[in-house]
Amino acid sequence: MAVDNYDVKDLSLAGVGRQRIEWAYREMPVVGLIRERFAKEKPLSGVRISGCLHITTETANLALTLQAGGADVVLCASNPLSTQDDVAAALVEYDIPTNAIKGEDDVTYYKHIDTALDNRPQITIDDGADLVTTVHTKRSDLIADVIGGAEETTTGIIRLRSMEKDGKLRYPMIAINDAQTKHFFDNRYGTGQSTIDGITRATNILWAGKKVVVGGYGWCGHGVAMRAKAMGAHVIVIEVEPVRALEAVMDGFQVMPLPEAAKIGDVFITVTGDKNVIDEAHLKVMKDGAILANSGHFNAEINIPALEAMSTGKRTIRDFVEEYSLKDGRSIFLLGEGRLINLAAAEGHPASVMDMSFANQSLCAEYLVKNRGKLEIRVHRVPEEIDKEVARLKLHAMGVEIDTLTAEQEKYLSSWQEGT
Ligand SMILES: NC(=O)c1ccc[n+]([C@@H]2O[C@H](COP(=O)([O-])OP(=O)(O)OC[C@H]3O[C@@H](n4cnc5c(N)ncnc54)[C@H](O)[C@@H]3O)[C@@H](O)[C@H]2O)c1
Repeated sequence: MAVDNYDVKDLSLAGVGRQRIEWAYREMPVVGLIRERFAKEKPLSGVRISGCLHITTETANLALTLQAGGADVVLCASNPLSTQDDVAAALVEYDIPTNAIKGEDDVTYYKHIDTALDNRPQITIDDGADLVTTVHTKRSDLIADVIGGAEETTTGIIRLRSMEKDGKLRYPMIAINDAQTKHFFDNRYGTGQSTIDGITRATNILWAGKKVVVGGYGWCGHGVAMRAKAMGAHVIVIEVEPVRALEAVMDGFQVMPLPEAAKIGDVFITVTGDKNVIDEAHLKVMKDGAILANSGHFNAEINIPALEAMSTGKRTIRDFVEEYSLKDGRSIFLLGEGRLINLAAAEGHPASVMDMSFANQSLCAEYLVKNRGKLEIRVHRVPEEIDKEVARLKLHAMGVEIDTLTAEQEKYLSSWQEGT
């Protein structure tokens, strides 16, 4: 198709974007193998796909893989601050209309979603469910054409499951995040490393010796806590779920309620997917100079309106670092407007881990097309054979071989007769 439905910051950045996309591709061997097969077999021939994703080098490689499979792909951003403008420009050159500008306001953000939907998608790919909810609420005329959709992240899946529960979901969705080859790795090692990277790039703080409060000990929280500890930080975990809190204790972290942690933390990192986790009462007792960052999907985890109301003014002291001057004389520093800091101030997850997430996305797009009209309207798990295939290919690409069960072991593991 002719590329005309795009909106990017500056097309002249395309050359730099192209090189960075190529660099990331070197670390995405599984996506690479799928791309080679897609180019030959064209399993997505003529299928219109709209993707609402973080516009990063890794997403570009997903889009190019879907395109190699014959799809007609249009993209928009899934967060106003996560777009890499050079990548967006390069995507337009690759004939993938992209609607995304880093720092866009909410009106532009939703205008971009609308443009991506104007292509009348047959498959929607989301990271946070803004595209699918827009289809269901404002563009329901498009639903008749839709084969199905895929959702990348925990928060998006929570939204989809409540749509399903309320009887509002109108086409089948695949929960990519629930694949083991997604959340075991992407959420833990990807978010862990890149969150520390984002905060480091924004602030250049020394982690060693800092008291770092991690909000939520889920898959992302595991990664953030593990990596902060490895940098020499003293990590405190806050949780609301007893099993996860217990796990944090036994993993060697201090666990305490946030009202207590708020008084002693130097750096606070939320990764809960919840709202107002850091609230006015906590802001009131924080130390002068406390740093707040969020790596959860939405910028709702820190109560920013409360912080604004407590302040006499604010200034940008460094890129992505906002100093709030409080009425009582303290300063609190908010990073990246409370948006996911790994994408706002760094580059998001490293390509090697997105290789697995986006291999799942690519294979699930193929699965949706193959099963057109056959899937129930609900949130589906990634088929186990896809999950296992992604793990197998990743191990192969890493040059790692594993053992196989002997016939005797297979028989033993599927029987009950043999005991003590
Ligand atoms: N930054 C990124 O690139 C990135 C990547 C993957 C996921 N995410 C997002 O990160 C968030 C977390 O994802 P996850 O996969 O770790 O989810 P998860 O469900 O595994 O973990 C969330 C944890 O937060 C805890 N929690 C909820 N409310 C809390 C509160 N008020 N106080 C303390 N703990 C609370 C829950 O009990 C749970 O253990 C989601 O919004 C997800 O979409 C971001």
